[in-house]
Amino acid sequence: MSKLKFRVEPGGTLRGTLRVPGDKSISHRAIMLGSLSEGVTEVSGFLEGEDSLATLAAFRAMGVPIEGPEHGRVRIEGVGLHGLRAPDRPLDLGNSGTSMRLLAGLLAGQPFDTVLTGDASLSRRPMRRVIEPLTRMGARIEATEAGTAPLKIHGGRKLHGIDYVLPMASAQVKSCVLLAGLYAEGRTCVTEPAPTRDHTERMLAGMGWPIDIAGPKRCLEGGHVLQPCRIDVPADISSAAFFLVGASIAAGSELVLEHVGINPTRTGVIDILRAMGADITLTHAREVGGEPVADLRVRSAPLHGIAIAEELVPLAIDEFPALFVAAACAEGETVLTGAEELRVKESDRIQVMAEGLTALGIEAVPTPDGIRIRGGRLRGGRVDSHGDHRVAMAFAVAALRADGPIEIDDCANVNTSFPGFVELAHAAGLRIRAIS
Ligand code: S3P
Repeated sequence: MSKLKFRVEPGGTLRGTLRVPGDKSISHRAIMLGSLSEGVTEVSGFLEGEDSLATLAAFRAMGVPIEGPEHGRVRIEGVGLHGLRAPDRPLDLGNSGTSMRLLAGLLAGQPFDTVLTGDASLSRRPMRRVIEPLTRMGARIEATEAGTAPLKIHGGRKLHGIDYVLPMASAQVKSCVLLAGLYAEGRTCVTEPAPTRDHTERMLAGMGWPIDIAGPKRCLEGGHVLQPCRIDVPADISSAAFFLVGASIAAGSELVLEHVGINPTRTGVIDILRAMGADITLTHAREVGGEPVADLRVRSAPLHGIAIAEELVPLAIDEFPALFVAAACAEGETVLTGAEELRVKESDRIQVMAEGLTALGIEAVPTPDGIRIRGGRLRGGRVDSHGDHRVAMAFAVAALRADGPIEIDDCANVNTSFPGFVELAHAAGLRIRAIS
């Protein structure tokens, strides 16, 4: 457990105009596909958080010349699809599930062996969901008996395309199979049970790799080339979410969040908050490098509890810690179902959020696939983030409506997705302090 704590004094309002850091999902993919392209890919707005930096370090360790990041700029000298070199040590991916699952697919098609490791949280997360389809494609991957990292990925295997129906709505598994498909003989198809983030598909197409998309099915073939390009990474809606919730619950707040990615596979948080009564408007909608972007204006508004539509769950999958805080501040009950995936994120987000909300005096009842939260008076108190970045940030914004200070333990992992959170949130009006 890290010693970094947040202490947040109660009350306050959020005001001003701010830009949260770059999108984590797009930052990972920019490094991966840029590295495999044939030429120089220039990235701006790159997330300089520990997760995307772990991906960057992994590709450097495989011989890709990468300059930066400097103020979000990264210059990648792509080595082509077959230019990666064997790393001389295991690739440590820290806390990052996206790095491990996407890399597993990409590395299954290399001529060399690799070992993927991670921190205690990542080493508990399920990896059979990628091992199983990759094995069907001809890969050989060893994991622990529990199906967890470290993963040993054997190189020199001949992969062949498969037609895979995803057993769960997971963009990581979808992307893993598609990336392995770049190296496979024949056609690789993935069908998803519900729409999930499609940044991999968009970036592949943007770099000139043909990909057929028909409803829930996406197919590609090996044997093409990735063209280098410029990638302007929008601000991460998953980081903006803490401010959307914070400004909604703190009376008198008004914030503008600039240049936020509003890819329709990511905007469930806006739909859910609006259904609860939030006042969020989009301005300056535009397209940047194949991804839709807008400025988001949010003003405080009275929220009410809702039954969250299950089809919105994959479209808001990372935003539930923040949304549970919104539910705790809403009038009436909010019910979430169909969200068992939350139990296998960086922490068991259903259990950990229920415990924290309960410690703050809110009725929060976990269920196998969701939670029931009755809005009420938030007390101050002490909560444990269990090393989960998004849990830590969600409880920090809860202090805007608490009647005493909130102390949050184990907050160092906020740096995995949102470096500078404390400073940015403080500047916007959150009375937050980091204590190490
Ligand atoms: C991600 C997909 C999601 C999400 C994660 C990032 C991605 O995971 O929770 O933070 O970049 O593909 P799952 O695919 O496991 O739902």
